[in-house]
Amino acid sequence: PTSTKESPVSTSGIVYRPRRLRATPGMRRLVSETRLHPADLILPLFVKEGLLEPQPIPSMPGQVQHTEESLGKAVAQAAEAGLGGVMLFGIPERRDATGSQGDAENGILQRAIRIARHAVAGVDGTDDRPEPVIMADTCLDEFTDHGHCGIVTSDGRVDNDATLDRYARMAVAQARAGVDVVSPSGMMDGQVAMIREALDEAGFEDTAILAYSAKYASAFFGPFRDAVDSQLEGDRRAYQMDPGNAREGLREADLDLAEGADIVLVKPAGSYLDVLRAVADRSDVPVAAYQVSGEYSMIEAAAANGWIDRRAAALESVTSIKRAGADLVLTYFALDIAGWLG
Ligand code: PBG
Repeated sequence: PTSTKESPVSTSGIVYRPRRLRATPGMRRLVSETRLHPADLILPLFVKEGLLEPQPIPSMPGQVQHTEESLGKAVAQAAEAGLGGVMLFGIPERRDATGSQGDAENGILQRAIRIARHAVAGVDGTDDRPEPVIMADTCLDEFTDHGHCGIVTSDGRVDNDATLDRYARMAVAQARAGVDVVSPSGMMDGQVAMIREALDEAGFEDTAILAYSAKYASAFFGPFRDAVDSQLEGDRRAYQMDPGNAREGLREADLDLAEGADIVLVKPAGSYLDVLRAVADRSDVPVAAYQVSGEYSMIEAAAANGWIDRRAAALESVTSIKRAGADLVLTYFALDIAGWLG
């Protein structure tokens, strides 16, 4: 025995029996260290301008590009399920070099925010049944014709400082449309500070910033690029992080905290649980993790082949993300999980 206490006498010679606490469902429930709750889950939703019918996303079974009408219903469903929030992504009809639709007052994402705002107004909004929080992606990649997250220079680089002004305008446009949380995901240096200043100047002191702090240049974003009809050729390795770097992820989180992030996020989640744990250990604000498209689709694909139990795998993956330190989880399984939790 490793205990310094005197060992109790045992006829079998086995002193400690951890299995006692696993013996019955009631016992397992009692000693569970990590619990899932719908209020900790955020559902990402895609809305595409000009769409007449919701369009299934082939590489993300069960997920769709929404019409404006079906988006409203999906947000109402998320509210009904008691989810903590929704994360909105817009796919515009017209794209250009600067992503001008990203901050247009009537751009698809701003319209989506207004639709979501209207949809959640249907729930009573009391402490017992709060409205889910409305979040939006604050990034240019859906809006640019080259698919990069920022302004591209004539020699093909993504110009950090020129991009910041675009993000600031997007954040203010989203705040005007009624978003609760803006979510800079483009990995430009200084983006959180720039957005905070712009929001405050425009009178949106209460609009929160969820900072994608440690965001890795990941192959697991693959299906998402289909979901948003991405125009990207090449990769984002000049601004998203190298998958091998953990310390650098902590540095990114520290910078975002110093710049005024209200929530910090690690993304993807499943392959970066060590980074998530380390960020959670040093953060004094809530920590979020994004179980991204590829993580979702791998489970869906294996389940469709009968190789894996979909429900068990989804629950295990999201439980593990919480165990590693996430207070909030963005996951395409959010509605399913809320249903399973009953
Ligand atoms: C950038 C953004 C991406 C995702 C969320 N925000 C794509 C990227 O960085 O290439 C990916 C989410 C997912 O894969 O589910 N706007």
